[in-house]
Amino acid sequence: MELLDKMSKTILDRFRLDGRVALITGAGQGIGKAFAVALGEAGAKIAVVDLNRDLAHQVANELLERDINAIAMAANVADPESIEVMVSNVLDHFGRLDIAFNNAGVNKNSAAEETPLEEWDQTFAVNLRGLFLCCQVEGRHMLKVGYGKIINTASMSSVIVPHPQKQAAYNTSKAGVVNLTRSLAAEWADRGVRVNCISPGIVRTPLIVNSPALATSSYPYGCKTFPWVDYVSSRIFRERLFTWLRKSQIT
Ligand SMILES: NC(=O)c1ccc[n+]([C@@H]2O[C@H](COP(=O)([O-])OP(=O)(O)OC[C@H]3O[C@@H](n4cnc5c(N)ncnc54)[C@H](O)[C@@H]3O)[C@@H](O)[C@H]2O)c1
Repeated sequence: MELLDKMSKTILDRFRLDGRVALITGAGQGIGKAFAVALGEAGAKIAVVDLNRDLAHQVANELLERDINAIAMAANVADPESIEVMVSNVLDHFGRLDIAFNNAGVNKNSAAEETPLEEWDQTFAVNLRGLFLCCQVEGRHMLKVGYGKIINTASMSSVIVPHPQKQAAYNTSKAGVVNLTRSLAAEWADRGVRVNCISPGIVRTPLIVNSPALATSSYPYGCKTFPWVDYVSSRIFRERLFTWLRKSQIT
């Protein structure tokens, strides 16, 4: 009877974030937007953060239309001051910060022997330095209150080298995200702050679709197998995400 009762419950009956506040960077589109919708559906209040103010507003408006409490915020994770303002605006508006999804990232493609130094630096400024600064500012607040969940977006490229994409800077920055996550997790776990990362495979998002070098990648979810499915906006994606978040007790 207990088993039947369990089976009849949807993932959203079992995974609730009511009363929690989540900040998501790079939430104006793609994977970040999917996180924003997913965490909002589970009951969290959402700060939709993006470099692109219009995209952030569009997503926040979509959330509000679904009766999800959300605000839009423009921030550049490559800019330390912008990150301070982002976190303090979330605290001013919602009064708390429980979950931070540090997801903003860029992927520029060039042959390693030709990669300009600016491209390497820009990639690291957003993907690794920016992500570290976000963790640092969010972490300071979370450590003070003794509670918080940080989830960083790494990539499968942190452990494998996708072929034929030429993205040495990206791959290296994402490998850094994984070990940075481990380092912060080890430092902060006993003070109530859990730090994890996810490493997606290739997901059809504007990052992939708008890049000639990436759009031909093999097996982007929803591209080859189901070309008509916008996988990242689908319920299947969100249910998988919920299941993973719940099972690994990440939020
Ligand atoms: N799509 C994939 O196949 C894939 C696979 C593995 C990992 N990832 C990672 O997932 C994350 C999201 O990827 P996506 O495919 O949704 O990308 P996307 O390009 O579709 O969306 C990224 C969002 O981040 C924002 N952004 C970029 N630079 C920023 C900055 N400096 N400050 C704040 N916001 C910024 C962009 O405006 C954009 O809205 C990235 O970290 C990416 O590396 C993506």
